[in-house]
Amino acid sequence: MKRELDPHQSHNLQPLPDSSVTGSLSTEKAKMCWEEEVKQDGEMEELLAVLGYQARALDMAEVAQKLELLEDLMGNAQVITIRGGLEVLQLQEVDEPELKDDEVLIKVEASGLNQADTVQRSGAYPPPKGASHYLGVECSGTILALGKSVSRWKIGDQVCALLSGGGYAEKVTVLAGQVLPIPPGVSVKDAASLPEVACTVWSTVFMMSQLSAGETFLVHGGSSGIGTFAIQIAKYYGARVFVTAGSDEKLAVCKDLGADVCINYKTEDFVKRVKEETGGKGVDVILDHIGASYLKQNLESLNFDGRLFIIGTVGGSVTEVDLRALLSKRLTVQFHK
Ligand SMILES: NC(=O)c1ccc[n+]([C@@H]2O[C@H](COP(=O)([O-])OP(=O)(O)OC[C@H]3O[C@@H](n4cnc5c(N)ncnc54)[C@H](OP(=O)(O)O)[C@@H]3O)[C@@H](O)[C@H]2O)c1
Repeated sequence: MKRELDPHQSHNLQPLPDSSVTGSLSTEKAKMCWEEEVKQDGEMEELLAVLGYQARALDMAEVAQKLELLEDLMGNAQVITIRGGLEVLQLQEVDEPELKDDEVLIKVEASGLNQADTVQRSGAYPPPKGASHYLGVECSGTILALGKSVSRWKIGDQVCALLSGGGYAEKVTVLAGQVLPIPPGVSVKDAASLPEVACTVWSTVFMMSQLSAGETFLVHGGSSGIGTFAIQIAKYYGARVFVTAGSDEKLAVCKDLGADVCINYKTEDFVKRVKEETGGKGVDVILDHIGASYLKQNLESLNFDGRLFIIGTVGGSVTEVDLRALLSKRLTVQFHK
């Protein structure tokens, strides 16, 4: 199956909207999140709720105002963590990261805040072997030094990068192949929230599930970081985009980003709506982070030759499936950790 750009498609790929700023907490601001004075005045919990799980549904002016408040309290030390709740995060001076031949050293300007960070902080998701002990799976900033075998980048380049950890520190080393240029029209700070969603959505929906122009695509959690990126890029490539989300406010954000069919899963049966909107056929590709509790409904929502990509298990990881549901429609189910 070949992926083609539909010349009749009117949607352009926009720089991520202002709301993406909320997925990107600058290093300095992140440090201050853990300061006692911020915790005490009640801003802390609210900010984390905004930044962690509901970023795209809230008033962005309000978020910006909160970030400004934190900006006043900036410090210079680096951020490290041990396992547990928010209280375990501390500011500490740490050693410079060691640069290997195939890596670049980045001076971090901003780092993204992902579910992986909060789960890792709680101890439920240990860093991969060999990864930095510090949190942070994506960042943006300026290249300070190059490993001996790196030729693609130069010192002073402004970049963003997908990391296995370490993005909350002031400096981080990363394989040169995981570094991306900052797209035109996107600020260095906003670019910190790009690598994780861009790499995840591109590798799953496009490289593996081969979503093509003219096909239909359903993304669950449409207002999430993953969802907001998936909507825009799928529209750009000419797909008809369906989303689910847990509130009408979140769905309004999805609609603004270009989603064609917006389903409030709390008030509507998404399988029924998908069938209605597709003349009974179902969608061609689904990107899902719910897992077990949605598996049956996802399989029911797919068209013949449909592809389901599961990237999370917030709805559980154990379930039963009748294989005939896959056989009868020649379905493909894939996973990405
Ligand atoms: N496998 C991979 O490589 C990979 C990479 C990146 C992200 N992910 C996964 O993809 C998902 C989205 O990531 P993100 O960073 O874009 O997340 P996010 O911005 O924090 O948004 C998560 C959204 O998921 C929905 N949700 C439904 N049930 C939930 C639950 N039990 N706990 C938390 N959220 C729940 C919520 O939207 P509603 O209120 O609308 O339901 C929430 O807004 C996460 O599960 C993440 O772990 C996987």
